[in-house]
Amino acid sequence: MPTCRICGSRLREFYDFGKQPLSDAFVPTDRVGEEFFYRLAVGICSSCTLVQLMEEVPRDKMFHEDYPYYSSGSVVMREHFEATARHFLATELTGPDPFIVEIGCNDGVMLGTVAAAGVPHLGVEPSGGVADVARSRGVSVLTDFFEEGTAERVRSEHGPADVVFSANTICHIPYLDSIFAGLDRLLKPGGVFVFEDPYWGDIVERTSFDQIYDEHYYYFTARSVQALARRYGFDLVDVTALPVHGGEIRYTVARKGARPVSGAVTDLIARENERGLTTDETLAAFGAAVTSVKNDLIALLTDLKAKGERVVAYGATAKSATVANLCGLGPGLVEFVCDTTPAKQGRLTPGTHIPVRPAEAFADPYPAYALLFAWNHAAEIMAKETAFSEAGGRWILYVPTVRAVEGKVDAT
Ligand code: SAH
Ligand code: TYD
Repeated sequence: MPTCRICGSRLREFYDFGKQPLSDAFVPTDRVGEEFFYRLAVGICSSCTLVQLMEEVPRDKMFHEDYPYYSSGSVVMREHFEATARHFLATELTGPDPFIVEIGCNDGVMLGTVAAAGVPHLGVEPSGGVADVARSRGVSVLTDFFEEGTAERVRSEHGPADVVFSANTICHIPYLDSIFAGLDRLLKPGGVFVFEDPYWGDIVERTSFDQIYDEHYYYFTARSVQALARRYGFDLVDVTALPVHGGEIRYTVARKGARPVSGAVTDLIARENERGLTTDETLAAFGAAVTSVKNDLIALLTDLKAKGERVVAYGATAKSATVANLCGLGPGLVEFVCDTTPAKQGRLTPGTHIPVRPAEAFADPYPAYALLFAWNHAAEIMAKETAFSEAGGRWILYVPTVRAVEGKVDAT
């Protein structure tokens, strides 16, 4: 019987997405047939309510030299992380011996600003390709997975940290016991661990089920993060809602008793309880909503195909692996996916084998419909693709429901 990765209590499965490939494993055309598949299913802990995957994919299969996700691909995310860095520079890093560590610094999108300010920092990043890009921006990077042993090494070589920051990475790490043991070694007594990840409340509310894939092992709520922090001798001291990536929460965690707990924490947990984010009814309704979106999307794309309309997808996201494989969207329904990331171009989407082409292919010529796989970047993308709408093109969205729209909308 599968048990909670954190507290060992019984896990109850509530949705099975079936056989899925690695979400970021874009396939070279001569390597079709060599793909790794696993069963993607999501469950909830009957005790601490932490939502998590039922099966774990080995980390080296996902994060390696060839990892193709580059954080700096979005202007909005670049601005978000520059503001994050400036916030730390103006608050936690003003003491005599400042030091910030980032878990999963990727291409240096956040630490680049810290490095430019001349403040001591270190990124811990196992994926060699993205780490090299960070280094080329002047960021110091240790190419490794963060865990207890790494934290010990960082502490002995660089000293203790004021801040350990992590964005869209803690939810990727099943072994959080080792992460907290590492934080205990690395943080100054008054230091903070700040992390931001997709919020289960937003996933439920928007039926954004494509946030569920191999790399996203956990789906946090303030309640589950509070329980997690307490288990390892820490406190959840603050929470902030963020508009990025379809709705996230930034959690601030400190050693037990070291900092006052903000009213925002108790307010958010109370709201989560009122909304029943993890009740059996909510989870059953979420599952039913996922199945409706799946059926509606298949019906719409099949109908457009029958009418001879061209459909192209926009953004070869990791998220889209879940949608495409759940709905069986191959090149028969979606002609190609355009994406700005050179590491993805010329390859095929995992499992469904839709060709990935450069962004320029989108307008050459415009299709009638664009399936917005990167729906979390809708505002940024629609703002730069106004010529597509002006030419009569329509965007297909599937969060929170399936629909085709004309111009600029708030897709989330
Ligand atoms: N922080 C960036 C990158 C998120 S993608 C952003 O928000 O855009 C997740 C990153 O975490 C990847 O670059 C991956 O290589 C890295 N990662 C995965 N497991 C890790 C671990 N145990 N320690 C440090 N980084 C890890
Ligand atoms: P993203 O949604 O950030 O993450 P994930 O892969 O984890 O689901 O991925 C966005 C993808 O969309 C990335 O491959 C870059 C691409 N992209 C474009 O092609 N054009 C754009 O204007 C933007 C913002 C992103």
